[in-house]
Amino acid sequence: MKLMELLILARLHGAIDLATGTPAFPETSEQALEAAITALRGGFNQYSNSAGTAELRAQAARLHEADPETEITITAGATEGLNTVLTALVQPGDEVVVLDPYYESFSAAVAVAGGATRFLKLHPPEWKWREDELREVFGPRTRAVILNSPHNPTGRMFSVEELQQVTDLCATWNVTLISDEVYAAYAVRDGRRALPSEVAKDVTVATLRSMSKSHSISGWRIGWIHAEPALTRRFRLVHETLTACVATPLQLAAAADLRRESGISVSHLQILERNQLRLSKQLHAMGMAHQSAESRCYLYARLPDSQASDAIDISRSMIEGAGVATAPGPFFHSEPSEGRRYIRFSLNKSEDMITEAIARISAFI
Ligand SMILES: Cc1ncc(COP(=O)(O)O)c(C=O)c1O
Repeated sequence: MKLMELLILARLHGAIDLATGTPAFPETSEQALEAAITALRGGFNQYSNSAGTAELRAQAARLHEADPETEITITAGATEGLNTVLTALVQPGDEVVVLDPYYESFSAAVAVAGGATRFLKLHPPEWKWREDELREVFGPRTRAVILNSPHNPTGRMFSVEELQQVTDLCATWNVTLISDEVYAAYAVRDGRRALPSEVAKDVTVATLRSMSKSHSISGWRIGWIHAEPALTRRFRLVHETLTACVATPLQLAAAADLRRESGISVSHLQILERNQLRLSKQLHAMGMAHQSAESRCYLYARLPDSQASDAIDISRSMIEGAGVATAPGPFFHSEPSEGRRYIRFSLNKSEDMITEAIARISAFI
């Protein structure tokens, strides 16, 4: 069974969606909607600068202390950002390191760019890589490493020390770090943990950001790449060929939103944290072990040993019997059988959705 088939089944059953990371919380702001309508009505309906409108690049650049003219490219979400970066960097025969388990698009994007994926295993229960295995995945054919922290599907946020292990090897082998930071807004920063782009010094970095999750506008397709000028020039050539430009009126509205410093707030994060705690308690009660999530986006829980069925069967019966959709582990592992005992729960939902999901799961059990 494919993930899409499960999602269709979930829709048929009107299931609460804890399967996808599509944000159901916070809601898209009224101001964002108004800004989009104003831009549409204001006549901003034609192509714009392929690199992105000046105002959106300026707002994005502010977040990285970057030069909007030479270091920021506005993309159709991190998805196009990743494909642009890989297309620009990867030649046939090149290898790209991807953490395993992984966000399902990564290895497909590497393949489309003509490269080969080298998986670096994250070992349960803590979902950490082994240092010797990390060293082994680097070699003369390594072109890039994709890090994704906060991490989908495990919810991990890698420590500064872990990230330095990767950046040291990137420096040794002259490898580009592609940092997918679509969950940056959920990140916990406590001195021990940071985003990869904040740790990477003396290495080449292409940082992918997105407003999909932080501003609940995944359908607008707004993101950007932050990279040094020489790389940015190459990325812009690919980006222009792929898309011409991102939807002009939505770029204007997104820029207005960033200017207002909107998006996920401290109080939203507190709600996500409560979601995490309450769901975590329920999972423990069901004997489903998991790491205490580090990033308020996902819980990745192991089925109890007493449970004979695997994750795909359990996910299907939770949709049919409880009306709650979850994402089974096999879809996230290079070797699907390694995910057969795991289920991913998304946390970026309203408190009411989480309350109802917990009630339905308890009744189902
Ligand atoms: C790790 C990761 N990267 C990228 C994306 C896609 O982001 P965007 O909507 O900005 O294309 C997702 C979406 O769930 C994701 O989980």
